[in-house]
Amino acid sequence: MFEISKRISSMSPSLTIEISDLAKKLKSEGKDIISFSAGEPDFDTPDVVKNEAIKAINDGFTKYTAVDGIPSLKKSIIDRLNSYNHISYEEDEIIINNGAKQSLYNSFSALIDAGDEVIIPAPYWVSYPELVKVCDGVPVILETTFEDEFKINVDKLSELINEKTKMIILTTPSNPTGTVYSKEELTKISKILENTNIIILSDEIYDKLVFDNLKFTSPASINEDMLQRTITINGASKSAAMTGWRMGFTASKNKAFIKATKKLQSQSTSNINSITQQACIKVFDGSIEKDIEDMRVVFEKRRDLAMSLLSEIKGIRFHKPEGAFYLFVDISSFETNCLDFCKELLQEKGIALVPGVGFGSSGYFRMSYATSDENIKNGIAKIKDFIESKY
Ligand SMILES: Cc1ncc(COP(=O)(O)O)c(C=O)c1O
Repeated sequence: MFEISKRISSMSPSLTIEISDLAKKLKSEGKDIISFSAGEPDFDTPDVVKNEAIKAINDGFTKYTAVDGIPSLKKSIIDRLNSYNHISYEEDEIIINNGAKQSLYNSFSALIDAGDEVIIPAPYWVSYPELVKVCDGVPVILETTFEDEFKINVDKLSELINEKTKMIILTTPSNPTGTVYSKEELTKISKILENTNIIILSDEIYDKLVFDNLKFTSPASINEDMLQRTITINGASKSAAMTGWRMGFTASKNKAFIKATKKLQSQSTSNINSITQQACIKVFDGSIEKDIEDMRVVFEKRRDLAMSLLSEIKGIRFHKPEGAFYLFVDISSFETNCLDFCKELLQEKGIALVPGVGFGSSGYFRMSYATSDENIKNGIAKIKDFIESKY
């Protein structure tokens, strides 16, 4: 009777969640697990934000709000996009969503018709192809290489563009590679898209987590053409350590598009949690800049620690990530089946990594360094042991 729809049956479950679930199961059975699999900061949400949420509850700010979000939150987002991202949006060019995941889902739903192609550079974040498929779109994978530091080759991009191409996804800093696009690189990409109707979906959820004094550049800030064709997606999850609060937003100069996503949201999930909205004003109005910076500095130190320890393992290679909190490690010189590698490592040594195949690149693993120095030291020692004894 309950035959699952073809749409959902054809979806793959998230490999990231699969591995962290297996790690949790082994942990509950008493096994010592060090998890490098989670895509979330291990820090607590800053107190200023928590207190604002408590105040919202006590003040009775617990009712429905406008579907697209409260104006005071939109205002703080507009200010933040102006000052940090150098992009100017108006209130009706922004909608608040239930995490960046909903921002993506709503955007695809509002724009993609059956057969429309969406170019997704690989390695990609696990959910992109599945979300495109669920909206009847066709994910077109644009392979990048280790040698190109996992950045888009513009000639390859040109080759993939045809009359069905609706959109391209850009993720900077990238999950899983930590790659950050420079202004020059984004300008090169913009030249390829000029005179086309291709929309850029820019996922900037890690924009505050950049290292080595690098300056983050939003694709929409490149020029007027890029501003008009780009959908900017961001939220509170990663930089403010608020994954559980579920807050993301979508910004676009195309008001009709924002209105369409609002219509979808009004008939599906409505406004996001009122308390989260009130608390998130503090995320974007500058109140927690110091907390965000303190966390960023810790991530940078952990990146350096993890890189120096991993560099002692023979046969692997990786790039220095310029942002986010992941290392994407090439193990293909000794093992191409990275799923088996990760499962065996988890069973034998209690170390949870995510296989690269989930991100569209086999022969790699993704290691999240959003965990303590102690875990990084002990965990990498076990990975070293495992590799040296097995290969
Ligand atoms: C690149 C990227 N985009 C979007 C998301 C989803 O963010 P949220 O938790 O706000 O839905 C994630 C989470 O892992 C991510 O890595």
